[in-house]
Amino acid sequence: MPTVLITGANRGLGLGFVNAYLAGGWRVIAAVRDPAGAADLNRISGTAQGMVTVERCDLEDFTTIEGMGRKLSGTPIDVLLANAALTTSPASGVGDTDYDAWMRAFKVNTMAQMKLAETLVENVAASGRKTMYFVSSRIGAKPPAGMILFRSSKSALNQVVMQLSLLLKDRGIIVACGHPGFVKTKSTADMGVFTADESAGYLKKIIDGLTLDKSGQFFEPDGSTLPIVTRQMSSNAFGAKPPDAWDAQQKARAKDAASEN
Ligand SMILES: NC(=O)c1ccc[n+]([C@@H]2O[C@H](COP(=O)([O-])OP(=O)(O)OC[C@H]3O[C@@H](n4cnc5c(N)ncnc54)[C@H](OP(=O)(O)O)[C@@H]3O)[C@@H](O)[C@H]2O)c1
Repeated sequence: MPTVLITGANRGLGLGFVNAYLAGGWRVIAAVRDPAGAADLNRISGTAQGMVTVERCDLEDFTTIEGMGRKLSGTPIDVLLANAALTTSPASGVGDTDYDAWMRAFKVNTMAQMKLAETLVENVAASGRKTMYFVSSRIGAKPPAGMILFRSSKSALNQVVMQLSLLLKDRGIIVACGHPGFVKTKSTADMGVFTADESAGYLKKIIDGLTLDKSGQFFEPDGSTLPIVTRQMSSNAFGAKPPDAWDAQQKARAKDAASEN
């Protein structure tokens, strides 16, 4: 029986994922900030006959991510579904940027996502499906102005996903991300095109179909893809160092550093 770990599983899209994976017969590890206050999740868990385990995980406090990692040591996780995010984005016109809020957005939406991957990589590597999927947002690449805190933290998340996909490919781990659509949750004041259950169903279908050759991609909810980062660049681009020369320089530097130690 496959296992999924879902962050932010107490409400919104995260709760939709819990429903979708339980309906598919998966075991669910539901990671939430406040297990005691997760009333809807606890109600589902109570009727799920041991299929849901609730773990505490506050993405602003990395010791709780590490603590969850220790508790789950040796447990294979087929899909790490990194859904939780700080979705508020205070107005930021030029002159009134809230830098503390921006740092929190980067901590939760970007750095904590890397921390989750680092903490749980062995669990994912030990599983059958070996998949990490990060819920990002189309807004991370979309030009219209506004929501600079949220927007930039999701753009940076896309970079993290691309880098993880490259770094983990040799271990057979698939890393992808995508947009869930415009979903009726607290973050959208219940406006949207899809319900959380509908969106979770679309995304589960995408995640079910992921293979290693799709690693590093950004998916729309219908399964089509968008460029995750600009895929540059020809080795003769203006100002670019040819890759061979770059490699030779890196190797020479590493050799020098080794001989100094
Ligand atoms: N809804 C949309 O239209 C839409 C569009 C684009 C992307 N997305 C993405 O979809 C994902 C889910 O969004 P949503 O609409 O369901 O958002 P939401 O209603 O705001 O729910 C956010 C979830 O993240 C959790 N969370 C926030 N900060 C956390 C922290 N520090 N540690 C642990 N958990 C934390 C929340 O837990 P608490 O209950 O404890 O606060 C909640 O479970 C997010 O990644 C969001 O960016 C949504």
